[in-house]
Amino acid sequence: MVGLSVLVALAMGYGAVAPPDEVAPIAIVPEPVQWDRAEGSFKLAKDTPIVVAANESGAYGVAYTLAESLKTGLGETPKVHVGAVNPPPPGAITLTTSGADLTLGEEGYELKVTANSALVRAPTDTGLARGIQSLRQLLPPEFEEGKPRASWQIPGISVRDWPRYRWRGMLLDSCRHFYSKDFVKRAIDLLAYHKMNVLHWHLTEDQGWRIEIKKYPKLTEVGAFRQASGNDQVGDPLPIETGLRAVHPDPGQLKESGKYGGFYTQAEIKEIVAYAAARRVAIVPEIEMPGHALAALATFPELSCTGGPFQVGNEWGVYSDVYCAGNDKVFEFLQDVLNEVIDLFPGTYIHIGGDEVPKQRWQACAKCQARMKAEGLAGEHELQSWFIKRIDKFLTSRGKRLIGWDEILEGGLSPGATVQSWRSFAGGIAAARAGHDVIMSPTSHCYLDAPNESTTLERVYSFEPMPAELEASGAKFILGGEGNLWSERIPQGRWDRQAFPRLSALSEVLWSPREKRVWDDFEKRIDPHLRRLFGMGVRYYVPPPVFIDTPTVFTERTTAAFKDPVKGAALFFTRDGSLPTAHSSRYAGPIEIAATTRLRAVALYPNGVASESVSRTFRKEPYLDALSPAPTVEAGVDVRYFEGTWLRIPEFSAMTPAASGVAKRVGLELRKRDFDFALEFTGYLSAPADGIYTFFLESDDGSVLWVDGKPVVNNDGIHPPTERSGQVALRKGFHTVRVGFFQGSQALVLNLKWAPPGGQKSGLDSALFRAVAPRGGRR
Ligand code: ACM
Ligand code: ZN
Repeated sequence: MVGLSVLVALAMGYGAVAPPDEVAPIAIVPEPVQWDRAEGSFKLAKDTPIVVAANESGAYGVAYTLAESLKTGLGETPKVHVGAVNPPPPGAITLTTSGADLTLGEEGYELKVTANSALVRAPTDTGLARGIQSLRQLLPPEFEEGKPRASWQIPGISVRDWPRYRWRGMLLDSCRHFYSKDFVKRAIDLLAYHKMNVLHWHLTEDQGWRIEIKKYPKLTEVGAFRQASGNDQVGDPLPIETGLRAVHPDPGQLKESGKYGGFYTQAEIKEIVAYAAARRVAIVPEIEMPGHALAALATFPELSCTGGPFQVGNEWGVYSDVYCAGNDKVFEFLQDVLNEVIDLFPGTYIHIGGDEVPKQRWQACAKCQARMKAEGLAGEHELQSWFIKRIDKFLTSRGKRLIGWDEILEGGLSPGATVQSWRSFAGGIAAARAGHDVIMSPTSHCYLDAPNESTTLERVYSFEPMPAELEASGAKFILGGEGNLWSERIPQGRWDRQAFPRLSALSEVLWSPREKRVWDDFEKRIDPHLRRLFGMGVRYYVPPPVFIDTPTVFTERTTAAFKDPVKGAALFFTRDGSLPTAHSSRYAGPIEIAATTRLRAVALYPNGVASESVSRTFRKEPYLDALSPAPTVEAGVDVRYFEGTWLRIPEFSAMTPAASGVAKRVGLELRKRDFDFALEFTGYLSAPADGIYTFFLESDDGSVLWVDGKPVVNNDGIHPPTERSGQVALRKGFHTVRVGFFQGSQALVLNLKWAPPGGQKSGLDSALFRAVAPRGGRR
């Protein structure tokens, strides 16, 4: 930890520091509708009053928030005064709704800065809350760096601004990894800073129930904690600072108990809701149903179709067990929960999830089948639709509106539902055409949990929430959009690097007029903007070092190399897996490796920002000898087929197969159904030469490859289609090979490929064999 901050401090020397008293170039994010530079500049000092009128209590609250945010650069919180606002008093920052231009709308504002005064005027307090963010961003980036000065200059400007969309949201997943109360508040601050207005707070999941429910204390006693696993050890430690500038270590790690988890008490939730309200950010709680509910089912297995028992999930992926739709107790439970949720969150909307609901338990459940019969439902999709409609009716009766992911379209949309379109734009288009409100958050542009290298900043910036093919009659139902940042691989210390700078781009997509959204212009503004964010403690993404792909297994010696870093970054590395600092070795060319080595590297940029570290282990391994004598073989592999539910590859030797046979390849041909089964393939692999072999195993759900009994590729667990690779040194000749695979639900994928030494990645079916059956019958 010291290492990273030392590294940053050293590198800060490279950065240019603006001379005091100079105004910064205008770089507001999101770009306002209109602005014109005006004469002169306004001097902001500790004793600059922030003035509001006596009858404007809402403006007083916004003024107080502004005052708090100015403490960083001034060293003291300026005072909020009650006084006359017309005309704006000289030498003061004035916030008022009086005399505002009503055409600016619900969130619009005007900002006028002259040498004499700074005025934010808006029709509503919400508009004032947006306007103060522009005012803050007129200060130079150094203002946020925690080195207070007696005074600062704010450039003269006249701004008129309002949002393009009324829904500008961000999903925070507190379930897969737990985020502390202070961290949630910090996220709210960062949303407000970008004029975003919705925090979509994901509070219940397979991996954790995170909201205290007074009627069911067991939900958080049991459901808020899962077995800690290797899945949690992701990301670099970041410097620990204080207050809102802090980036804390993962608060979900409970080392003593071997558990991972946490939850928010109702008192904490009230505090967070009030904090968000003061910043005019609405919180939309998400209580997931009927799927993604394993934490609740682990607590109350009687709410499932099978009766359990279950454990709170510690795999990432889609679990087959969901709430039973045929059991009225499920609806009693959910209504009790929702009643408490409604009392905690004053906003209009409740998100009920509705995505990724496997149907196999419902198909096999007498209660669910009886429900379908009684309600005249023609299949499990209609049962899902019926489930959501029943919940919608309840929420509507309590004056709330339901939001669900686009799967709630399947089997028929509930009358009042708002659809959040995630799989693509299509669900949103269909819902808008049917006259339903829509929030666009397609995976292609809005999933900020995706790597920065694939869902790039420019790609997010190119997101257009309004589909070109949507007629005007449907266009009015597009409320706006959301960034989704699921936290399977994003513990708290890594959140900044996923959110920024992409969230800054998204804020501009959702706020700025279409014609004001110009990539070249954004690129110029994002650098000073990121400098402000860095000053605020945001450890945003910069490209890390990239290893040139070479085998990581070697028999004698090897070299490792990095691609040329971008933007003049310097690369530093260690050979023992520890986090590099600026005192570590500086990369100057290929690194010689003669023993097993864990290389870890960071890129350090001229502006003082360090990338996340990357690491790779280079393993020195002996060759695996070929079988001697060579077995007598024929084409094909032996396969055994098993039925059951698993979350990891089972111990096949202890199980009785439901079927067995011979297959041409490692694939899915021998299955008897599409869910809840496993396959074990055994055979021989013919290696054409001595050398390093790379194997690629793609699957949904889990798979593992063993060669000569040694695990070579581990792609285990429930997950979407994922390819993993591994390497092994093989002598020319025959080796035993074994592949295990299991399927829970959702997509069904299994592919094995290899790259022999010096060869391309290709199928290996023709190199797979089985023992010739001995006389007297098959083995
Ligand atoms: C989702 O990403 N499953 C909504
Ligand atoms: Zn059921």
